[in-house]
Amino acid sequence: MNKHQASSSSVDDITGHRRLRRNRKAAWSRRMVQENQLSVDDLIWPVFIIEGENRCEEIAAMPGISRYSVDLVLKEAEKAAKLGIPAIAPFPNVSLSKRDQTGSEILNPDNLICQFIRAIKKEVPEIGIITDAALDPFTDHGHDGVLRDGIIANDESVEQITRAALVQAEAGSDVIAPSDMMDGRIGAIREALDGAGFHDVSIMSYTAKYASAFYGPYREAINTGGLLKGDKRTYYIDPGNSDEAMREAESDIAEGADMLMIKPGMPYLDIIRRMKDEFSMPTFAYQVSGEYAMIEAASANGWLDGERAMMESLLAFKRAGADGILTYYAPKVAEMLKND
Ligand code: PBG
Repeated sequence: MNKHQASSSSVDDITGHRRLRRNRKAAWSRRMVQENQLSVDDLIWPVFIIEGENRCEEIAAMPGISRYSVDLVLKEAEKAAKLGIPAIAPFPNVSLSKRDQTGSEILNPDNLICQFIRAIKKEVPEIGIITDAALDPFTDHGHDGVLRDGIIANDESVEQITRAALVQAEAGSDVIAPSDMMDGRIGAIREALDGAGFHDVSIMSYTAKYASAFYGPYREAINTGGLLKGDKRTYYIDPGNSDEAMREAESDIAEGADMLMIKPGMPYLDIIRRMKDEFSMPTFAYQVSGEYAMIEAASANGWLDGERAMMESLLAFKRAGADGILTYYAPKVAEMLKND
């Protein structure tokens, strides 16, 4: 018996016959002992939408991903629903003329998000709709809240985001997912939803959203890159922190969140595991634009096998304890899982 084997396991290998490779000898055996699996039920598909009709524009920093006008995204949503993807999450790219200091366009009941919600509810009612109530697609400074004298005003932002949540619920959104990290927004949204009779509209909180470099390509997708003044470090979490994410989770649960999310995904697997273990809540990961772009760029250069890297990255979220993943790969993965 070698010392290392004995110390690394609670079971002593007295006879020295222990061989971990035996279970790995063939595909059938590996399948039989695999601890975590990825299924289509784990996938949430974030889609980029744009005004107008019959428009489909490629996003340079996210090869293979496009922005669709609502008429075209319906067809994509229909395919996604047929593949069994449970839910879709729209992110709008609206014209710059509609953006202002307070993101007021988010309150327009006929804005791009609401048009999307109503169209999906009518044409593809079997897919769930998860909408973000953060202000950044609608502000002329690219921040998620209301900017006052160089500061993102917390309480005024919460009021605006809460009104936005109501507008989205009225249009038919199933889940409000605020990504702004303002303090107190989950409680405010829950109270407003309940007050208006939307008891069944859920809240998926972006509980641990980090001040991350991995959002870069998303800013191109919704055209906020050139607008953003400064950064989001006064409201997103510092990448060095883990306890703080647990305190965020505690608040969100107390305020009525139904589901928690960690974002970005792969650099924060430890946070997913810890949050799942400490709170036993439905816990989701967002594999963000930069994670997608890294895999695609390396794959395009022939530096790694893109499809394998994609599958491995998604399985890793399951292993870390995630109940589901928001991923731009959703339709591609669903297709591959079907043919598996
Ligand atoms: C902001 C928001 C961000 C993303 C979605 N909503 C981050 C940001 O712009 O700071 C990022 C998504 C991605 O990178 O895929 N409310």
